[in-house]
Amino acid sequence: MLLHIERLLDASAVARMRARLDSADWIDGRETVGPQGAEVKRNQQLPEASPLRAELGREVLAACAGHSVFHAATLPVKILPPRFNRYAGGGIYGAHIDGAVMTLADGSQLRSDIACTLFLANPDDYDGGELIIDDTWGEHEVKLPAGDAVVYPAGSLHRVEPVTRGARVASFFWIQSLVRDEAKRRTLLQLDASIRQLTASAADNAAIKQLTGVYHNLLRLWAEA
Ligand code: NI
Repeated sequence: MLLHIERLLDASAVARMRARLDSADWIDGRETVGPQGAEVKRNQQLPEASPLRAELGREVLAACAGHSVFHAATLPVKILPPRFNRYAGGGIYGAHIDGAVMTLADGSQLRSDIACTLFLANPDDYDGGELIIDDTWGEHEVKLPAGDAVVYPAGSLHRVEPVTRGARVASFFWIQSLVRDEAKRRTLLQLDASIRQLTASAADNAAIKQLTGVYHNLLRLWAEA
């Protein structure tokens, strides 16, 4: 399931973040990939140990925690501290699959069920840089307004097209979900959306309560952590 998350960050938060990022010290993005990724990755990242990365990463996580659609779609158990990247001057990331298991700073591990890219540059400000995600339905091209994000299965082959003008700045991170299976997560998201619509239309209260119970009982059956 590929889902567009609108306004994860509002315009003022994006502007503040960009002001900090545009004057930051970037390093070669190959710091965080294995040998296969290193062959196809040509971009820049904030260093893993950078205090700015930690600070802005916390801000992104706070935005995720406060966004109801993000939460309903991902049902996070753990989120890797967000990273920040920048593509310019032909920067590209060729087709690859993200690592399945990642190690956090405290030594614990995270299974990457879902990948997230949060766009921090407006599409008008750069050419190229589309995120191309290949799933069972074919290739999807994603290039979103600054502040919007996409979540997609981390197991899908994906790439970033060359940036031929301007700079593509983004945050990216992985999520371990309470519900590992994508089809089950989609079912829960659809049920959650239906319950919200019924609640907003002041439909029969008892029926809504019953449906809400079904949601939680399915989550109880399917939750793994
Ligand atoms: Ni990737």
